[in-house]
Amino acid sequence: MASPRLYADLASWWPLVSKPDEYAEEAALVRTLLERGLSPSVGPRRLLEMGCGGGNLAGHLAGAFELTLVDLSADMVEVAAARVPSARCLQGDMTSVRLGETFDVVLIHDAIGYLLTEEQLAACFETVAAHLAPGGRAFFQPDHIVETFAPGTFVDAGDAPDGRSLRFMEWTWDPDPSDQTYQMDFAFLMRTPGEGMRCVHDTHTLGLFSEACWRRHLEAAGFQVHLEPLHRPEGGAAGVAWICTRR
Ligand SMILES: C[S@@+](CC[C@H](N)C(=O)[O-])C[C@H]1O[C@@H](n2cnc3c(N)ncnc32)[C@H](O)[C@@H]1O
Repeated sequence: MASPRLYADLASWWPLVSKPDEYAEEAALVRTLLERGLSPSVGPRRLLEMGCGGGNLAGHLAGAFELTLVDLSADMVEVAAARVPSARCLQGDMTSVRLGETFDVVLIHDAIGYLLTEEQLAACFETVAAHLAPGGRAFFQPDHIVETFAPGTFVDAGDAPDGRSLRFMEWTWDPDPSDQTYQMDFAFLMRTPGEGMRCVHDTHTLGLFSEACWRRHLEAAGFQVHLEPLHRPEGGAAGVAWICTRR
């Protein structure tokens, strides 16, 4: 399946779609959950994020961790490197990359949604385990699992210092509730100085797995698993976080 345009030829628009500043609160929560129960270690702890996107979340973790950021898309790796200059940024696939080293923490945020089959999920968990020593921690934060999925519509805007402007709608829906995927459709209106306005429709297909399915594959990969329900400040469900320790 072709990579969504948002992570390829439209990658430079990512910071207008998803604003780095809006990740501060989420990064603080990730840090709290990650560090719960961990004994404080000496010196900077090493964190690997796979599917780092534009480094929006990672940018808020740079003070607390020594960061290695990996993404499938070379264009997104470039965006992440500009956003988090202190990080080592590499191109790689979260289902197969082998860096030949271990980290204290491996984090996969919303990018985990781009794995579409149980086989890919299992390969990803094996990849994560290969980058952790026993006792190391893994953190996965899917936007949705079957039990928390809700369709939705989100409308937003972004304006860049270079004069580009974006207005867009993000529509989350499930064309076939009997399979293990759902869909996000983006309608982008993009204005570039000197080039005028264009309109782009970008379809993203994402994986949707049950709690039991997640748990089965995580345990098979050698993780001790804790599921943390997440909530929006206004009260609604906001997906889950899987906090895992490598046995
Ligand atoms: C929603 S973006 C992540 C945004 C990120 N949370 C941030 O803070 O900017 C999803 C990313 O997952 C990446 N991705 C999709 N499949 C991947 C794979 N198999 N391995 C690594 N990265 C992948 C895409 O290229 C894209 O950059």
